[in-house]
Amino acid sequence: MAHIPNGATEGLILSQTRPNYVPFANSTMFSARATTPELMDDPSIDELELHQTLRQLEFLNRVSGAYRPTLDALTELATHRDAGDAPLRIVDIGSGRGDLLRRVHRWAEGESIAVECIGVDLNPVAASAAASATSADAPIRFVTADVLQYSPDHAVDIVINSLFAHHLSDAELTRAMAWMCEHSRIGWHINDLHRHRVSYWLLRILLPVLRFNRLIRHDAPVSVLRGFSRDDWGPLLAGAGVSERDVRVRRTFPFRWSVLWIRPEGASDER
Ligand SMILES: C[S@@+](CC[C@H](N)C(=O)[O-])C[C@H]1O[C@@H](n2cnc3c(N)ncnc32)[C@H](O)[C@@H]1O
Repeated sequence: MAHIPNGATEGLILSQTRPNYVPFANSTMFSARATTPELMDDPSIDELELHQTLRQLEFLNRVSGAYRPTLDALTELATHRDAGDAPLRIVDIGSGRGDLLRRVHRWAEGESIAVECIGVDLNPVAASAAASATSADAPIRFVTADVLQYSPDHAVDIVINSLFAHHLSDAELTRAMAWMCEHSRIGWHINDLHRHRVSYWLLRILLPVLRFNRLIRHDAPVSVLRGFSRDDWGPLLAGAGVSERDVRVRRTFPFRWSVLWIRPEGASDER
């Protein structure tokens, strides 16, 4: 059995007590984004189970190299920062257990860049899980908010998110991208899932074998079905008022999209 940190046994007990409704995929399910809800977005989910899910998600992020596309994008975005010693302000939307921002902080230390990071997540359990997993000395704080209603109290340089975009409907995502354009002085980056049948079936087969909990076993394949094909990005970006000229959409390993927007030279960043 793979070493799944903290609470694999807990997960087994929970998964035996509740059924696991994973939709059976047919070929048409990959032709458009699914609207099947994820269990972790259900506000009535047990807090203990959600904590365990966020820990298992962090484990999956670490073993799948999920941070790399964001760190590569930050390296590029950081070249556009102002001269001077003001910290680079970075907001992570849908920050979950906060592992991406902890990794960003390590990256920034390695690059000798001062940062101030804010994780925003709709779910209050995420903010408390993230805060308890993060050193109090790190320049990272977590707030509970729906990003579409959130107004940062200071100007933000860069907005990032990972495995957040697929949680939103197309209409919500276009609003979120417009929000990111409005609030990022330098630019933003989305790291999210490729709606790919190989990825779907790998997750459906491997996650139960590796004894991930009920939420991960359900939500990971559903997330792939809620994910994106290359053709989805054009209309989504257009809906957000973003010119494809200013965006770079790339496939990254494993079965991900990296979408990077850099504010065009001369465009106003006044807010
Ligand atoms: C799959 S988790 C990803 C967490 C983390 N980024 C990671 O990679 O492990 C998606 C997160 O987005 C959050 N979320 C969903 N809709 C949101 C919204 N409108 N505003 C802020 N957070 C949201 C959820 O609560 C959840 O914690």
